[in-house]
Amino acid sequence: MGLLDKHLPQIRAYSGILEHGADPFNVKFDAVLSPTEAELNGQRVILLGTNNYLGLTFDPDCVEASVEAVRRWGTGTTGSRIANGSFGAHLAMEKALARFYGRKHAMVFTTGYQANLGGISGLVGRGDHLILDADSHASIYDAARLSQAEVIRFRHNDPDDLAKRLRRMGDAAKGSLIVVEGIYSMMGDVAPLKEFVEVKKEAGAYLLVDEAHSMGVLGDKGRGLAEAAGVEADVDFIVGTFSKSLGAVGGFLVSDEDNFDLLRIVSRPYMFTASLPPAVIASTLTALKRLEEDSSLRVRLQANADQLWNGLRDMGYAVGPHASPITAVVMPDQAMAVTMWNALLQNGVYLNLAIPPATPDNRPLLRSSVSAAHTREQIDTVLSVFEQLGQEFGLLKRARRASA
Ligand SMILES: Cc1ncc(COP(=O)(O)O)c(C=O)c1O
Repeated sequence: MGLLDKHLPQIRAYSGILEHGADPFNVKFDAVLSPTEAELNGQRVILLGTNNYLGLTFDPDCVEASVEAVRRWGTGTTGSRIANGSFGAHLAMEKALARFYGRKHAMVFTTGYQANLGGISGLVGRGDHLILDADSHASIYDAARLSQAEVIRFRHNDPDDLAKRLRRMGDAAKGSLIVVEGIYSMMGDVAPLKEFVEVKKEAGAYLLVDEAHSMGVLGDKGRGLAEAAGVEADVDFIVGTFSKSLGAVGGFLVSDEDNFDLLRIVSRPYMFTASLPPAVIASTLTALKRLEEDSSLRVRLQANADQLWNGLRDMGYAVGPHASPITAVVMPDQAMAVTMWNALLQNGVYLNLAIPPATPDNRPLLRSSVSAAHTREQIDTVLSVFEQLGQEFGLLKRARRASA
């Protein structure tokens, strides 16, 4: 009996997926040609499965800033900020984020995953209560485990269920930490944040919003859902990532909370890992400036999101509740999801296959995300491939019959 034998059921399920064609969880790009195109197995594909919302990964200013920083500061920091010191870039990034969000404090982490891990586990611990949306990202669930706080889950995007659970907690609700996301990463749906804020105020709880997929996407200034919903003053903590709209890697936490800097000496995912290389921060700072100064990127992103979502819905595909840069197509079963994923790839469209248990309600999904950099023609191409394959596999007829 080997240590890995416990994973045999997953390995069998994985082998079943591989029988349909390519390996959806081990895609290898031969070349990435632009934010929207790549070469995969010698074939040119449209990238519809990235989180490159503003299309800044090849922005000449971002690339140049990064190259200049790598020449000046070297390739890496080789250690954590607590043990091995901060570079000017870390402090500049924290200053820029605090200014962008109009908050007193900001803290940069090495990934968005670690921002949730380090932020949440620094804020709550054994004896505290952490109140989570049931569809929370894995990084939030992992943060809960690390924190050792007592976890209470409420129904996804349901303020009434949250209120009910807080009422049941009695006095313990006061001072507990509620965590929700801006845009949810699988279905692209948005949290009813105004209603959540009312509930949290009534209970005297704290509220953290993970804006990983909504920073640069929502709000007049691109600050995310809290800005778009007009409730920034009532959101106590915002987590975000550099790996989506900002086109790099890294994460952050911002807040006005007193004694915020204590987190630097209690948060293990901040203390015990190497800090971001200055070259990564240089491109991220440049991307943040672009996000702030060029609102046309958000306008283009929304137009592309509308085009894809409306097109798929009008064909009869089951999509999320509203247009969003993330559009998930719900497949009737896992075998069809895998077949469609392979067929889309063969027809030059790369997107994400998402299967249970990683999906809400255990539904198999084809998850796509658009970028401001996609052209209308690229999205037209994607739609015509979906239409052709939907006809071929009888998916559209089935969906139309179901909705009739
Ligand atoms: C809601 C949410 N939070 C956090 C993360 C982690 O971010 P990163 O990939 O930058 O570590 C993700 C990643 O997809 C996410 O979807």
